Amino acid sequence: MKFFIDTADLDEIAEAKSWGCLAGVTTNPSLYMKTGGKLADFEGHMLKIAELCEGLPVSAESTATTAEGMVEEGRRLAALAPNIVVKLPVCAEALAATHQLASEDIRVNMTLVFSPTQALLAANAGARYISPFVGRFDDIAEDGIQQLANVVACLGNYDWSGKNVDDRVEVITASVRTPNHVTQAALLGADIATVPFAALKKCLAHPLTERGLAQFEADWEKVKNA
Ligand code: E4P
Repeated sequence: MKFFIDTADLDEIAEAKSWGCLAGVTTNPSLYMKTGGKLADFEGHMLKIAELCEGLPVSAESTATTAEGMVEEGRRLAALAPNIVVKLPVCAEALAATHQLASEDIRVNMTLVFSPTQALLAANAGARYISPFVGRFDDIAEDGIQQLANVVACLGNYDWSGKNVDDRVEVITASVRTPNHVTQAALLGADIATVPFAALKKCLAHPLTERGLAQFEADWEKVKNA
């Protein structure tokens, strides 16, 4: 399973990228708002992320509300850099826009997916990536991982050749809150997990690793001083 980072913060992206295991970036309007970004700077900011992560897919979300508006904004976002993926929230207008954008070889990440039927519709419309949300189900006392399992199983039953430029659909596990979400997503065979930086750091840390390292350092001091 590949790791994407779920942030629009350039410093977080740069640090995660320096780890050598980053495969992409996802952003959304809320994540952009958290950077303090202004409306006029949005496309420039997406371009900066795309340049920082050259060759890796970077999802930039359209805020248009009509199919025509999504297609127009999607074309503009995709023209910023070859690695920009247009992110659209699943709805009838977005399915129509996805169909059009896919026919122009523009990659779409369909977001705010909460059911297998939404995922199947998105894949049929031509979405390249599908983002089922896990944490927001858990927030309302539902089992987000079970919901993810249903999406992974349904999409995995079919061949998506001919539906988008890459002839494949990848599931991006989204709304990830914990390392356990990441582990469970990988056990299910989800293609990708997009993880906020704080949760990514938790994925790396383990108290036994820290204890073991402290022991190695202490023993090495003894070797040096013997
Ligand atoms: C994914 O692409 C979404 O932007 C993101 O995972 C949303 O997560 P949240 O539920 O933490 O806002």
